[in-house]
Amino acid sequence: MSDGESGGRGGFRTDLGFVLAAAGSAVGLGNIWKFPYITGEYGGGAFVLIYLACIALVGLPLLYAEMIIGRRGGKDVLDSMSALTAHAGTPGKLATWGVGLLAVGSGLFILSFYAVVAGWAVHFVAISVGLAAADASGSEATFTALAGNGGLSAWWHTIFMGLVVFVVAGGVQSGIERACKILMPALMTILLILLAYVGITGGLGASLAFLFRPDFSKVSGEAILEALGHAFFTLSLGMGAMVTYGSYLQSDRHVVRDQLAVAFLDTAIALVAGLVIFAVVFSMGAEPGAGPGLVFITLPDLFARIPGGAFVALAFFVLLVVAAWSSGISLLEVVVALGIDRFGWSRRTAAIGIGVLIWALGLPSAFSGEFLDFMDNLTTRYMLPIGGFLIALSAGWLLGKEDREAGFTALPGGGAILAVGWTFTIRFVTPALVLLVILNGLGLF
Ligand code: PHE
Repeated sequence: MSDGESGGRGGFRTDLGFVLAAAGSAVGLGNIWKFPYITGEYGGGAFVLIYLACIALVGLPLLYAEMIIGRRGGKDVLDSMSALTAHAGTPGKLATWGVGLLAVGSGLFILSFYAVVAGWAVHFVAISVGLAAADASGSEATFTALAGNGGLSAWWHTIFMGLVVFVVAGGVQSGIERACKILMPALMTILLILLAYVGITGGLGASLAFLFRPDFSKVSGEAILEALGHAFFTLSLGMGAMVTYGSYLQSDRHVVRDQLAVAFLDTAIALVAGLVIFAVVFSMGAEPGAGPGLVFITLPDLFARIPGGAFVALAFFVLLVVAAWSSGISLLEVVVALGIDRFGWSRRTAAIGIGVLIWALGLPSAFSGEFLDFMDNLTTRYMLPIGGFLIALSAGWLLGKEDREAGFTALPGGGAILAVGWTFTIRFVTPALVLLVILNGLGLF
């Protein structure tokens, strides 16, 4: 394989490396921080079922679309789109520039606030090992003192951005692939240890019932739309992260298998994280619907009261940092790849320069929770869904049949039925559902 870093763009050395990096992108704060708290807010089992349906109808088709665009285009998101839709005239140009600009914007904006939240997780690791002090008056005070302290938040934000830039500057193979090959197994190990822990200490039964016994009286239109929006965020869709990683693949052969593996890992890890968190919550008689503070306030509160809590807290927050790290890497890589492929920058210059820009963009979020929410809403509710909408339409209607179906035709047996099913879904079902999310984001329901 001629995939060394020296000869050209570089790429993943092994298929497993690709799967772990793409799963590393998908598994992040979305799985461990956001999925449990929105599931708690929307009442459990029924919401989980709807979320699984959204992963199947929107997530899987789009994941394939992004990976095949990257794989066949072979460049950063803008140039891959441009190469594959050039024959389509004006619609192709519009889609290319729309997707490209949204991808850069989302990469910059999401990482800017994501790094602040991830930085808080780093702070909690520091508390767990005694490097930083917790507020004596309890977890709520500890979190408020952190989130309300711009300088402190900015400090941890800086550390986290440094970790991300360090890996991306190292390259695809010796930076990203190598890091994710360590980070992902570490994450799964910690999660399994935590699962074993709650299996022994109790609460697992209540947690299982909460997550998997649907109560359909709790289903609302809003829950459906929330689940759909989250399907995007959690699978890193709508901003070319999977296009960029797909462009480092060496062949069409495993795209279908790999995308299934990524979606499976992402979903399984969200469900196990939810199981662990709710087991802790129920065993202490706490409320599942605590909202965004679930991970930063409710959990530390409980950790402080359970046997071995200091160790569990350390394991949990290391888990959160690791998950956020491999996601942050993919967010930066989208923009860095564009700097390299389109503008001919060196990887190191691109990673450091763009990293500093994102760091600066993140400072307002470190100093203002309102600004952080604004960036979160702007990207998750509007930019990602609009980007995903354009990618779905491009993949379904603008790509040539050969490019579009390459992953399926490479399957043993030719994958003809799968190709037909996917084409129908990406042309009609996915765009229609995504349009619903966008309209909901605009407050039209
Ligand atoms: N998927 C990541 C998570 O769940 C977030 C992310 C979104 C990463 C978009 C890359 C691109 O936390």
